[in-house]
Amino acid sequence: MSDPVDDLENGVVLAELGGYGDGPYCAKHGAGAALVMLGTYIVDPSDNVPYPEAFVFKPDRSRYMPYLLKHVAAARTGGSKVGISVATVEISHTLDFLSAAEAAGADYVSLCAHSSMEMFVREGLGEQLCRRENAALLKEWASAILEGVNIPVIFKIGLTEPAETVDAVHILASIGIPVVHINIRQCKPESEGLDVLRELSGVCQCLISGGGIQDVEGARRVLAAGADAIAIGTAAMKDPALCGHVQEILREDVSIML
Ligand SMILES: Cc1cc2nc3c(=O)[nH]c(=O)nc-3n(C[C@H](O)[C@H](O)[C@H](O)COP(=O)(O)O)c2cc1C
Repeated sequence: MSDPVDDLENGVVLAELGGYGDGPYCAKHGAGAALVMLGTYIVDPSDNVPYPEAFVFKPDRSRYMPYLLKHVAAARTGGSKVGISVATVEISHTLDFLSAAEAAGADYVSLCAHSSMEMFVREGLGEQLCRRENAALLKEWASAILEGVNIPVIFKIGLTEPAETVDAVHILASIGIPVVHINIRQCKPESEGLDVLRELSGVCQCLISGGGIQDVEGARRVLAAGADAIAIGTAAMKDPALCGHVQEILREDVSIML
């Protein structure tokens, strides 16, 4: 049987689109991709989370389990593997939601570790989690998630300070996180994010990267810089056929190389 992480090699990922990316949306906009990401979902007990209501759950499995069963099944009708992304300020809430996602049939689970929302940042989470001063917290969360689920774990981080980003990916890889997703913001030839990808090539089992990819050229540039798979968000919202189209061409590129 093939390794689910290796299956992402040269793959297209429909990136998380909070407020949009539920099951039916992912099936449509990620059809033909290697992986579609549901969410990000926020799990929090408060009543005023500043986020689209349909993507916020109380920390109560009886509330999100029916949703997860329905939306994982719906996402799968697009023919792609299905991942689910979460963000919380309590590790116990993250672990319960991700193990429910696994029980609902998800293939991958992901922690959104790049949000700039104040509710995460003030706890040293979100985009702060990849700062050097929060390395102990990053290790704690990564280890707990790895122990808590049996399917591949993705950490999604943003490009903060390049050296800190590189350190964070090394930390995640050393703990055994198999997949890291970096949003490099833009994939133009002069993007500093491409330099970061070059530095990170081969560090973790699978590096997904996206940011401004709108076509096959952008996807090829990100792969050539060192990513193993590419992610598309905004452009897939505008063109639901884009992920499948890019995936088809990347598969042809691989068969030409073989
Ligand atoms: C409307 C919208 C909602 C997004 N929501 C999330 C989210 O919930 N979680 C997340 O990790 N990233 C989220 N992102 C970031 C995307 O997943 C993606 O990483 C980023 O937009 C860069 O890729 P792109 O340039 O192809 O859009 C969102 C982006 C957009 C445009």
